[in-house]
Amino acid sequence: MKRLLSILITVLMVATVFVGCGKDKAASSDKIKVGLSLPTQREERWVRDKAKMEAVAEEMGIELIVKVADANMQEQTTQVEALLNQGIDVLILAPHDASAAASLVEMAKKDDVPVISYDRLITGTDKLDYYLSFDNVKVGEIQGKFISEMVSEGNYIIMSGAPTDNNAKLFKEGAMKYIQPLIDSGKINVIAEQAVENWVPENALKIVEAALAANDNKVDGILAPNDGTAGAAIQALAAQGLAGQVPITGQDAEKSAAKRIMEGTQSMTVFKDTRDLGKAAIEIAVKIAKGEKVETNSAVDNGVVEVPTVSLDAKVVTKDNIKEVLIDSGYMSEDDLK
Ligand code: GAL
Repeated sequence: MKRLLSILITVLMVATVFVGCGKDKAASSDKIKVGLSLPTQREERWVRDKAKMEAVAEEMGIELIVKVADANMQEQTTQVEALLNQGIDVLILAPHDASAAASLVEMAKKDDVPVISYDRLITGTDKLDYYLSFDNVKVGEIQGKFISEMVSEGNYIIMSGAPTDNNAKLFKEGAMKYIQPLIDSGKINVIAEQAVENWVPENALKIVEAALAANDNKVDGILAPNDGTAGAAIQALAAQGLAGQVPITGQDAEKSAAKRIMEGTQSMTVFKDTRDLGKAAIEIAVKIAKGEKVETNSAVDNGVVEVPTVSLDAKVVTKDNIKEVLIDSGYMSEDDLK
């Protein structure tokens, strides 16, 4: 009996060693392994985020495994499972769907893998380690202040981003701080107010086309949540010979938007330097993997807890400062404006 017991214990010990080996966690001497799960590459900014993080990871000598989910939550779930099975030390996760991603954080924590919520906040879980983003309410404030000062009365189209994206809520919250008082005072009449499903520009095109048709092209200002949706709105305006006559916001400092700002069809964009965000993400991941302290400068409520946050600043870009903000900073070249 005793003999049987000792054999059993030995077998169990060997089994645990092998199981540990399955998720080949980086031994202390090995390279730090970071998993990066991105929601999409449809917008230029996400392409830049990915490129910057890959470059910094290379410079810092860490292994970065990247997965892109093409705006599909099921795909992102499968990809995060795969990253965890590859034994990552830290997960950087920009969710397609803020609340659905909570289960991915729970899954990572079961494997003792810390999670950084990147750019977009993951809501509904108390297991998130850090949130790294721009001040997204301020992004909306920059848009709202700009358009309400440029068009303080008349007919408005108000668009917001994907309802699955917590940022869309924050952008709108910031913008409405400036627009709502003008609505309440009766100066602004909202002819359409709608979310752009999945941030898809074609959906924005339909919203603006319908609003123009229903109001005899009488529109004075458009709140567009990002450059992709702004470009689609301008397409609809152009079809009615209105491009350049209706002030419109944007966000992300895309090259196509920079061109539109120079030609006068788009009024502004919001610059969020993805080089800083990408670099910070890899640096924070390495600090976490090494057990070092991460400096944060704010905390954001995700509906369950105040998540320790690193929040970066954003800037307005118009024809007047585009050279200084986008060219002199090296974010794009003079040619990109032509
Ligand atoms: C947001 C992001 C924006 C915008 C959008 C569409 O979460 O902060 O920069 O591009 O997604 O992907």
